[in-house]
Amino acid sequence: MNKKLRDELVHHAIAAKEHSYSPYSKFRVGAAVLTDDQVIFSGSNVENASYGLAICAERNAIFQAAHAGKRKIVAVAVSSDEKGFITPCGACRQVISEFANGDTEIVLVTADGKTKSVQFEKLFPTPPKLEKLKK
Ligand code: THU
Repeated sequence: MNKKLRDELVHHAIAAKEHSYSPYSKFRVGAAVLTDDQVIFSGSNVENASYGLAICAERNAIFQAAHAGKRKIVAVAVSSDEKGFITPCGACRQVISEFANGDTEIVLVTADGKTKSVQFEKLFPTPPKLEKLKK
């Protein structure tokens, strides 16, 4: 991913955080994904009075891309209000793995806009493969 696209992806993740619906945790997260045809989709975390029904920003963004017909994700940016870097939860790693590969770049973004990239295979080294079930 070139610098311009990376900057744009980070910008979208930060902007998405503004739409977070997180009255219970007060923990805002924004995510943005870049597809292989260079389209960006974003999402934020959306919580619920039934706590377990909260959806993370990463999955929200990925589902937007999937619904638009996209099937390959080359980068994901995740932004929060934390001073340090937060990484996607286990459920989101699993969902990312459906549309990503080991080289997919995960861009972590702190509250003050510092960024760090991690290769997806470092976060999720052994994704389950159910190729036989795919049509
Ligand atoms: N959350 C995300 O959206 N993404 C993450 O990577 C970590 C956690 C959300 C879920 C919940 O709404 C809140 O942050 C606190 O866990």
